[in-house]
Amino acid sequence: MSNRIDRVIITGASSGIGLDLARRFLAEGSSLVVNGRDPEKLDRARRSLDGGARVVAVPGHVGERATARAVVAAAREHFGGVDVLINNAGIFGVKPFLESTEEDLDRFFATNLKGTFLMTQAAVPLMIEGGGGSIINVGTVLVQQAMMGMPVSAAMASKGGVHALTVSLAAELARHDIRVNTLAPGIIRTPLIGEDADSMASFHPLGRIGEVRDTTDAALFLARAGFVTGTTLDVDGGYSHGR
Ligand SMILES: NC(=O)c1ccc[n+]([C@@H]2O[C@H](COP(=O)([O-])OP(=O)(O)OC[C@H]3O[C@@H](n4cnc5c(N)ncnc54)[C@H](OP(=O)(O)O)[C@@H]3O)[C@@H](O)[C@H]2O)c1
Repeated sequence: MSNRIDRVIITGASSGIGLDLARRFLAEGSSLVVNGRDPEKLDRARRSLDGGARVVAVPGHVGERATARAVVAAAREHFGGVDVLINNAGIFGVKPFLESTEEDLDRFFATNLKGTFLMTQAAVPLMIEGGGGSIINVGTVLVQQAMMGMPVSAAMASKGGVHALTVSLAAELARHDIRVNTLAPGIIRTPLIGEDADSMASFHPLGRIGEVRDTTDAALFLARAGFVTGTTLDVDGGYSHGR
């Protein structure tokens, strides 16, 4: 079934949106494989989650196939499968287009797009074995609606690929009862945004920036919404529809 949340993989779970996802899915009864790049930071997050054997941490760069394999192998070994994959690990950076380097582009592509692609490719066979599942790709509203004062072309080239991958895979994997959706946040208060986050409240018609509980609410909805696939769920206080 594609609306179970018993066994969940969350990448980028050592901070911000991913850490809150881990907390809440754990509280909802899920067993978790959590990933992050820095092993010590990930281990601190695992300990803070206090989930005992229900939380397995597998560190590594998501853009490397070995990481994807190790994460999915842990889900198989410890929990016997995976119901939900949340491709949340991501990086962001503001830089004018003409100053963006090839290295910048490679960095964004490696984590945001290749990471999502490889992790999904590793997880799908296990989901098929289990009879279905749900994949949630974390994109961003900036893919659909850019901001004049925030040049982020290199980051968005990679995140745009994530949105496109969702649509393509939703069609290809539907026959396996695997749903694929994009969660597209506006500005959410996390370490990625930094101390100045509230200065961006006015970008959102609701008059505030988002909190991690807002993205987690949306992810839980997508994970359980058995007839929703291929969609983008904006979690943006109305940013995409008016300012
Ligand atoms: N916060 C926002 O306003 C906002 C808006 C739109 C979209 N998003 C998206 O939401 C997602 C989570 O962002 P966040 O705000 O929670 O950021 P965050 O607090 O910086 O957390 C990012 C997480 O991803 C991990 N990560 C980064 N690169 C990785 C890699 N190559 N391999 C494995 N793990 C990696 C980080 O681990 P390490 O620290 O060890 O690298 C960390 O756990 C990202 O995809 C981001 O693009 C956020």
